[in-house]
Amino acid sequence: MDSRLLASLLSSLVSQILLVLLFLFPTTNTNNPSSSSSSSSSHFPLLFNLLTSTQFAATSISLHPNSKKRKRSSSSSPLSSSQADDKEIEEEDNDSDSSFSSLQIPPPESYMDQYKVCFKMSCSTFEWLTSLLEPLLECRDPINLPINLSAEIRLGIGLFRLATGSGYEDIARRFNVSEFTCRFCTKQLCRVLCTNFRFWVGFPNSNELEPVSSSFEDVSGFPNCCGVLDCTRFKISTKGREHFREESVVAQIVVDNSSKILSIVAGFRGDKGDSRVLKCSSLYNDVEEGRLLNGSSVDIEGVSVPQYLISDGGYPLLPWLMVPFANPVSASCEGDFNAAIQKMRLPALRTLASLRNWGILNKPIEEEYKTAVACIGACSILHNALLTRDDFSALAEEIEDYSMHGQCCQYYPDNSLEENTVVNKASDIRNVLATKVSEARDLNQPTC
Ligand SMILES: *[C@@H]1O[C@H](CO)[C@@H](O)[C@H](O)[C@H]1NC(C)=O
Ligand SMILES: *[C@@H]1O[C@H](CO)[C@@H](O)[C@H](O)[C@H]1NC(C)=O
Ligand SMILES: *[C@@H]1O[C@H](CO)[C@@H](O)[C@H](O)[C@H]1NC(C)=O
Ligand SMILES: *[C@@H]1O[C@H](CO)[C@@H](O)[C@H](O)[C@H]1NC(C)=O
Ligand SMILES: *[C@@H]1O[C@H](CO)[C@@H](O)[C@H](O)[C@H]1NC(C)=O
Repeated sequence: MDSRLLASLLSSLVSQILLVLLFLFPTTNTNNPSSSSSSSSSHFPLLFNLLTSTQFAATSISLHPNSKKRKRSSSSSPLSSSQADDKEIEEEDNDSDSSFSSLQIPPPESYMDQYKVCFKMSCSTFEWLTSLLEPLLECRDPINLPINLSAEIRLGIGLFRLATGSGYEDIARRFNVSEFTCRFCTKQLCRVLCTNFRFWVGFPNSNELEPVSSSFEDVSGFPNCCGVLDCTRFKISTKGREHFREESVVAQIVVDNSSKILSIVAGFRGDKGDSRVLKCSSLYNDVEEGRLLNGSSVDIEGVSVPQYLISDGGYPLLPWLMVPFANPVSASCEGDFNAAIQKMRLPALRTLASLRNWGILNKPIEEEYKTAVACIGACSILHNALLTRDDFSALAEEIEDYSMHGQCCQYYPDNSLEENTVVNKASDIRNVLATKVSEARDLNQPTC
């Protein structure tokens, strides 16, 4: 089954799915409901709280991964009528596997999936994140309106917003808290991540870049490549007095071969072209001023090749930024070079697709501009945190075809700021790299 279809089906059903848990852990959960949110002995207090505090019907939903059909058991619960307004409810059918009827315990893996659906991470990552963020999430509450919620619930609310993109009204209902609280918890989570955990998307220092460049070399044959630069735009929908206003915001990323983000710059308005954004970014200044990519050069046939990034044709060619040849001579090393660049760009496309896996970034972000930017930052930081933990819950499928990409790009090629000497130096580097890739590919028939 198409996993995206399943995911969207799942997120519209999250409320019902969660109720399955009620039947899963009846003993741990019902023993001590009042202290559940603060008790660390309860295994799943967050979800339990979510369950007990929602008015949703006690209907069990089972998911059959191999079947397109979702089966809902006939419910004998007196509360089931409260689901009548659920648009997604399907016809009941009688062929449902009896082992999945209500009060039956679904297989454990489907339980673990709930964390993925609600929070885009595994249960253990959620617990790890809770303990990490706990002291930070619980401070700086509004003075007049203290938020009396555990760190776990706060994190749950914020992550649910990021992961599913559900509206605040909906989240408020699910968590039985006010919309104000939901907004507050989401902002607080984004703020904590963006201020205290910004280093999770920090650029490695020149020594740490060695494994990065060697994995790119394995892929392409190019030595000394330290990352892929790419850029995308997210729409933001802000509520004006009478109607929604749509704007867009740029996110520029650099990633390594494992799709980990090495640098992100977000916040420029979307009408700026990619190369303009680059030139205004701290990345550009840091490289130009020798603070980044200042590791040792590699000598190839007498040409000194510094550490560099690669990108697409929307960017200028610079000594530290290799882009494809604009009009490659066919059947030449230029064509090989371009093909290698496209292959190396795939991890960046995968990262962008993964960011859009977060429900909030999957459609126009319904937040004020500043908060929207913080959401992009938070999702990027979480993306890296998950990768570091080998938690692939939010990672997009590997991308095989770069031609699918491009609809969000704005190319304003702009070489006006480059001196001729810079352009010549960059050209020399690109030419020597092109020879290199050609040699690596075809030792017998050098084409250059
Ligand atoms: C929701 O919260 C209110 C207090 O904020 C409480 O009185 C009510 O019982 C809760 N509802 C459920 C279903 O837990
Ligand atoms: C389900 O089966 C019962 C009898 O077992 C039947 O009366 C009912 O009409 C069936 N419902 C559907 C939706 O097929
Ligand atoms: C916070 O909630 C706990 C129980 O969940 C309650 O005992 C306490 O009085 C509440 N504090 C405030 C300030 O509302
Ligand atoms: C580079 O990334 C691709 C795609 O994720 C992966 O298949 C490949 O093994 C990686 N190569 C290295 C050397 O890490
Ligand atoms: C590279 O930049 C870093 C930080 O800006 C600096 O500490 C380091 O000394 C520089 N390395 C070289 C070789 O200049």
